Amino acid sequence: MSDIASIRKTAEAHGQGHMLKFWDELSPSQQTSLLQQLAGIDFNYLDELIAAYIKNKPICEIPGNIQPPTIMPVRPQNQAQEAEYAAARKKGQDLIAAGKVAAFVVAGGQGSRLGYEGPKGCLEATPVVRKPLFRLFAEQIMAASKRARVPIPWYIMTSPDNDVATKAHFRQNDFWGFNHNDVIFFAQGQMPAFGFDGKLVMARKDRLAMSPNGHGGSLLAMQTSGALDDMAKRGVEYISYFQVDNPLVRCLDPLFIGLHALQGAEMSAKCLPKRDPMEKLGNFCVVNGRVAVIEYSDLPEHLARACNPDGRLKFSAGSIAIHVLSRSFVERLTKGGRCSLPWHRADKKVPCIDPAGGAVNPEKPNAVKIEMFVFDALPLAQKTVILETRRDEEFSPIKNAAGEDSLSTSLHAQVRRWTVWLEQAGIKVPRDADGQVSTAIEISPLFADSAEELARKADRNITISVGQSFYLGSRGQIGGAR
Ligand code: UTP
Repeated sequence: MSDIASIRKTAEAHGQGHMLKFWDELSPSQQTSLLQQLAGIDFNYLDELIAAYIKNKPICEIPGNIQPPTIMPVRPQNQAQEAEYAAARKKGQDLIAAGKVAAFVVAGGQGSRLGYEGPKGCLEATPVVRKPLFRLFAEQIMAASKRARVPIPWYIMTSPDNDVATKAHFRQNDFWGFNHNDVIFFAQGQMPAFGFDGKLVMARKDRLAMSPNGHGGSLLAMQTSGALDDMAKRGVEYISYFQVDNPLVRCLDPLFIGLHALQGAEMSAKCLPKRDPMEKLGNFCVVNGRVAVIEYSDLPEHLARACNPDGRLKFSAGSIAIHVLSRSFVERLTKGGRCSLPWHRADKKVPCIDPAGGAVNPEKPNAVKIEMFVFDALPLAQKTVILETRRDEEFSPIKNAAGEDSLSTSLHAQVRRWTVWLEQAGIKVPRDADGQVSTAIEISPLFADSAEELARKADRNITISVGQSFYLGSRGQIGGAR
């Protein structure tokens, strides 16, 4: 290991000598742990980042030639497209059945807005059984695996902060029946937090304040962790990417996967029509012939509000972080153990120590975190498919403790979606005078994970009583079975 004298010299030369201020007070084990942390720092790269992102606030230049992208509609618009969608659905199913598709959830975030203790994937997030998010996804993937009669590997990206707790949660629940060998965990990389003056923030006398390097860090983490090699060994060619906080997501959508494969795309994305011009979703657009996502905060209002002659929004497609990535694309991007996506800066409240070593819990942002975003890989793809989906079918994220995009809004969205499925299957769901459903309703993905599957399997004579929770379990049994 590098010795303290040389590390101190390097740190001081780069203006980061303060990290060793309390060195003499530390116990031998604290010294070892700090030394290990500092030995992992590339100070020259850090200087570049500080100049580019910390001392300057990078300005997002909106190119003059920005255009809306081509979007594949939710429903086929004509016969040719109907045939195309049918072929794509079949292709997707065939690829899944051939073992060429893996599920991949990014679950390394800190979930600071939600304020939940523990990994967000452990949050009990369904209306009746209160299944943790991870269980909900496990059941979906197991259902797809059963349908296709093939094991489907599930890659889970954690962070160094939540890796142990995430794995323990899976073990405590015996993976909900998922084959242990087909669940592959790996932790993403971290970045230090910076003070506004460019100095690295110390969380404790013996520890830098670190945070996960963004969901864009998933690409490199797949490479460095060996997950990509593991996929190659298993014959996986397509990666179905989703986030941990959206209970409505379809973890493996044959149509989406099939469109991606048939069109020879490298990275594809699902989108939603924005609810209003200023909705806080990234905006899909085309810049210099390449698909890109421009964050809502970077898109000037006149462009966000620009309309086509038919009165519809010009940039209407919002990004919901559901992707298919070709394994070969991720391999190309991360060759040699590097992945150069741009960084995004966010000013945050980071607990730290003051110059005397006392703990500080700041009330306003005191530091800068930088993160990579996965959608920044889109312009690097030779070909991208953007498929529109329906909000009520596929998007209701849990981001905040209350209000918009919270557990409460997501529970309602789940009940609404399952109600529609039941009604489409000919099953009556009690509604109040305003047409609202006040009964908690839940359907196990192991029984049906689409309206069509439910319509095929469900008994039309099922009775759902007002005010009584209704759960349709894995074998179609009714009740609160966990
Ligand atoms: P968010 O952007 O909502 O961030 O993540 P977050 O960390 O979960 O929540 P806040 O912003 O602190 O409140 C969207 C998805 O990306 C994952 C999250 O776990 C979530 O699935 N993510 C985010 C990572 O895997 N790693 C990261 O570094 C950041």
